[in-house]
Amino acid sequence: MSAEVNLLARLPVSKRNIEKRKEAKDPEVVRIAREFGETFFDGPRDYGYGGYGYDGRWRPVAEDIVAHFGLKPGERVLDVGCAKGFLVADLMAVCPGLEVFGLDISDYAVRHCHPDVIGRLHVGSADDLPFPDASFDCVLSINTLHNLPRPRLITALREIDRLSGARSFVQVDSYHDARQKEIFESWVLTAEFHDYPSGWLALFAEAGYRGDHAWTVIG
Ligand SMILES: C[S@@+](CC[C@H](N)C(=O)[O-])C[C@H]1O[C@@H](n2cnc3c(N)ncnc32)[C@H](O)[C@@H]1O
Repeated sequence: MSAEVNLLARLPVSKRNIEKRKEAKDPEVVRIAREFGETFFDGPRDYGYGGYGYDGRWRPVAEDIVAHFGLKPGERVLDVGCAKGFLVADLMAVCPGLEVFGLDISDYAVRHCHPDVIGRLHVGSADDLPFPDASFDCVLSINTLHNLPRPRLITALREIDRLSGARSFVQVDSYHDARQKEIFESWVLTAEFHDYPSGWLALFAEAGYRGDHAWTVIG
């Protein structure tokens, strides 16, 4: 069974102006955000990140991931939904010799990746990972899988399990009560699926997902 583990405990919480996003959000903004192009990463905040640059914030998270999984030089790690590869770069920095790769749907993010990960990132979708069975020692997917509709999300979890078995970690959007759900729905741009933890756990079980998990909860 999937176990909950907070590997992002040392990631600084980003500032969110929920009221402003609520006002700005319309179907056209959501459509553009879901393209995961330049506007999502480096355009105005209403469309996504509002500027996605490297600032080292993933470094402590990388340390905690290496410690949690006991990762060693020579082992292979895949970050699904790696964006510009900041976590990929930091994992290699904190564990020299670790072979880290990434995959993302965004051609823009891969073309604008961190210089240390050039050639290590692939453009592709989480539900169709172009790698052999059992080819990674660990697969991570942080704040990404909820961008797929439920049936494709199940396929994506099966893909992660196929590559690395139970040595994996996914973090996805969730909420614990009606107030948090309302805040989340005011903020969310790109997620196709979200649920209470019980709904996610049912989905993990349906997929046969054996790795670890955590929730991103706003508010
Ligand atoms: C909110 S960002 C998270 C990026 C990074 N993992 C982080 O936590 O900062 C979501 C990422 O998922 C990527 N993405 C969206 N749909 C995807 C899919 N079907 N397969 C792979 N990546 C996807 C987006 O391009 C984007 O880089």
